[in-house]
Amino acid sequence: MKTDELREKYLAFFETKGHTRVASDVLVPTWDPSVLFTPAGMNQFKDHFLGKVKLEYTRATTCQKCMRTGDIDNVGRTPRHHTFFEMLGNFSFGDYFKREAIEWAWEFLTDQKWLGLPPETLSVTVYKDDQEAADIWHQKIGLPMSRISFEDEDENFWPASAPSQGPDGVCGPCSEIYYTAPGRPALEIWNLVFTQFNRVGDPPNNLRPLPSQNIDTGMGLERTAAALQNVETNFHIDILKPIVGAAAEVCGVKYEYDSENGRRLRRITDHVRACTFAVHENVYPGANKEKYVVKRLLRRAVLDGHQMGMREPFLGKIVPTVVEMMQSTYPELKETVSRVASVIEKEEANFFSTIDGGLNRIERAFDEMRKDNRTTVDGHVAAELYQTYGVPPELFESLAAEHNLAFDWDGYTQAMEEHGEASGKLVHTVMGSKGPIDSLKQAFHKTEFLGYETTEASAGIIGIIAGKSPNDHLCDKMEEVGHKDPVRVVLDKTPFYGESGGQVGDVGKLVGKNFEFDVIDTQKDGELFVHLGHLKKGVMSEGDTVTATVDTSRRDAIRRAHSATHLLHHALHKHLGEHAQQQGSKVDTDWLRFDFTNLSPVTPEQLAAIADDVAADVKTAAAVRWETLPLAEARKQGAMMLFGEKYPDPVRMVSMGPLAHGTNSRELCGGTHLTNTKEVGAFEILSEEGVSAGTRRIVALTGPRAEQQATETTAALDAVAKLLSVEADQVPAAVLVLLNEQRGLKKQLGGGTAAGEVEKLPKSTGKLTYSGVKLALAEAGRHLSVAPLAVLHRVESLLAEVEGLKKQLAQREAAGPLSADTLLESAKTIGDTVIVVAETPGAPQNLMRQLIDQLRAKKDSIAVLLAAREGDDKVTLITGVSKDLEKRGVSAGKWIGPVAKVLGGGGGGRADMAQAGGKDPAKLPEALEVAHKTIAEMIGG
Ligand code: ALA
Repeated sequence: MKTDELREKYLAFFETKGHTRVASDVLVPTWDPSVLFTPAGMNQFKDHFLGKVKLEYTRATTCQKCMRTGDIDNVGRTPRHHTFFEMLGNFSFGDYFKREAIEWAWEFLTDQKWLGLPPETLSVTVYKDDQEAADIWHQKIGLPMSRISFEDEDENFWPASAPSQGPDGVCGPCSEIYYTAPGRPALEIWNLVFTQFNRVGDPPNNLRPLPSQNIDTGMGLERTAAALQNVETNFHIDILKPIVGAAAEVCGVKYEYDSENGRRLRRITDHVRACTFAVHENVYPGANKEKYVVKRLLRRAVLDGHQMGMREPFLGKIVPTVVEMMQSTYPELKETVSRVASVIEKEEANFFSTIDGGLNRIERAFDEMRKDNRTTVDGHVAAELYQTYGVPPELFESLAAEHNLAFDWDGYTQAMEEHGEASGKLVHTVMGSKGPIDSLKQAFHKTEFLGYETTEASAGIIGIIAGKSPNDHLCDKMEEVGHKDPVRVVLDKTPFYGESGGQVGDVGKLVGKNFEFDVIDTQKDGELFVHLGHLKKGVMSEGDTVTATVDTSRRDAIRRAHSATHLLHHALHKHLGEHAQQQGSKVDTDWLRFDFTNLSPVTPEQLAAIADDVAADVKTAAAVRWETLPLAEARKQGAMMLFGEKYPDPVRMVSMGPLAHGTNSRELCGGTHLTNTKEVGAFEILSEEGVSAGTRRIVALTGPRAEQQATETTAALDAVAKLLSVEADQVPAAVLVLLNEQRGLKKQLGGGTAAGEVEKLPKSTGKLTYSGVKLALAEAGRHLSVAPLAVLHRVESLLAEVEGLKKQLAQREAAGPLSADTLLESAKTIGDTVIVVAETPGAPQNLMRQLIDQLRAKKDSIAVLLAAREGDDKVTLITGVSKDLEKRGVSAGKWIGPVAKVLGGGGGGRADMAQAGGKDPAKLPEALEVAHKTIAEMIGG
């Protein structure tokens, strides 16, 4: 049976049993902070199991994309291990329980209409205390007791060992079904979890029955397909073997099951498939959390290729085969195949460039270990090599394994954490602390949010929390005015927006009959709104009624920024493509930061077009509306949805439009917005930069802050134009002309790089639009390697420099030709030694040094001191003496000291050549006299 057919049959079977077929959740559920990757089919139903959501169905069936990295070292080596895999599952939320779950599993496995496996090939395990399950298998199904075995909590509980080890939360005994094909070992294919307990604390008596009992099952798609297709490893099933084949082909090796290369090719297959799905969801290789896992998977796969002789990116070439194999179930992969391949290729290329250098460093580390007879690579050493030289730990580990050395990942992780770096260790915890907020949550569940309709409301205090975590506590009342740490006040309803979805929390005031409280921030904790702040006067008590008033001018600034963020997102999609998805955002007072997916920097032209679009959308004065509607309906209307986000159903959709180009922006969003786009006022992009591989960041301003910025930008360009005596649109070219002039002057003075073609100023084509102003300033900034608003300052100093250079050149020319011979004409002698002490007007330092070298080449015994003024407040002195003088103890460094002192400066250097600076050019004649005297003493004495 083909894998696609198995998947379909499973879902169809459970549909006949009244289950709703639900789509796979994403692989990287950013909505769930307790995991990096979806670990099981049940993950998307956590809230269903806990009764936290309104149930539209009580039975569901899914095929879920999953990833587990706990057994990563076994991938490729064993027949069954994967990182990425698919899990088939059927779920009951307080509906059917053990008997049905077991009976249906049996029917699906054995009935000819479905899988038709011979009953005698199946056996089961049950939890040691679960007689009920054993009875059903034995009495209802008729399975002989010889094929039912009892196991402990480490095998037959989910999560494993939950009763004694935790975590707290829902859990239950499970029953595993094994299939034994002729001549092969028994293979676990299906796990039925009877979720019937809530674990609270440690044993004994820590398993409390759940009010409603649930079923959670998981069947490994790949392993069951392997059983049905009778192949020795999951990697040989119909949807994986072709990927193994593609890997063998791009690596130019023959695939053999039982060889080291065979294992490598299977690992590559697994890792490329995993990364294809992750990158498709916009999770790019990076430094943190799930991004780091993707990076590590790619690196491990690259290393496998490296060991087979690959020296160029190759994984990206396997991506199309992965997509071909998975597309019948995940057709969306087809839309991103080339982007995914290029992201992977880029990371590969990066890594390839570090491998060889890393190899050398690692060999050295091995040598040291051998000297000390150590057999485990010290994690701290690995972390240091990584941080200092970028030697990837994966490389270290895999080479260590080849030398039969162990690698201390824990030590590595610890060292990286000490350095504040992510380790990539998988978090897999169950949420929930037990502080005062949790007791409030249990008692009140939620704060009603009124802030979409109003910014002032009457509300009741349901909790006051004082003190710092972990010693914070609920108080009946609060009367300490002037306390330091903010107090947290929880209200039954509130107009204050609690920080979420990137939008900062509101500030304002809570006023009661007996007190006044300043709110400095509002946060959400679950569904509760927590107002942080300070008691200003009076006594505040639990149960008090308050008037809660939001600071509306601040709220308005936030609304402007938030609505503009949607317009920006919309424009990014238009100009960069659908992949330019939000990766994160922060919405503050007339200030926003927006991170999105894009491999390369956004060009200034694209950026200008994006800003223009947003400005046009603002000018169009489009209506902003929001409504609550079913998720499916929002999807149908084309609302932007983010990968990994879990949206409530119904959802709140914020629409703007029709916008300037007739399109509409539709986003699922809980934020507070304007009612019309024109209220944004002005919009200004401040910067565009990369934050991590494949993620770009735009920072922008709105409203008055944007206007201010625009005024400054226009003024800056005008000022530069004035300085350069050109029209505004000629500024970028004029800057080039100026730069050329500077280079030309330096060259004439004997230093600097050659001047390029002298730019001609283009004719002015008239007044610039505002986006033209920004582009011109940005271009000028690029020429000068500074930010647009720093152009003015840079041009000012460049002009001053050019002035100075011109003066220097004039002095140079006025002083006539400078050469070693002319200097010798005015030389003196002391005995056999020639003494040159001279001013070399306008000479740059390298020319002065050249002259000294030429003089020393001409005379065997010579001492030279040259001086040159730069402007009115700087003199450069350089001294040099010949070898014979040096031997006699005459030092250029000692000579220069007293001379520089006369000029109000200092300096020194080696015996053969020294340099010093002075600040008082007027004293130069006096200094030159001192120079003569000093050298006479040095030679004479
Ligand atoms: N959630 C259960 C598992 O992952 C079915 O095995």
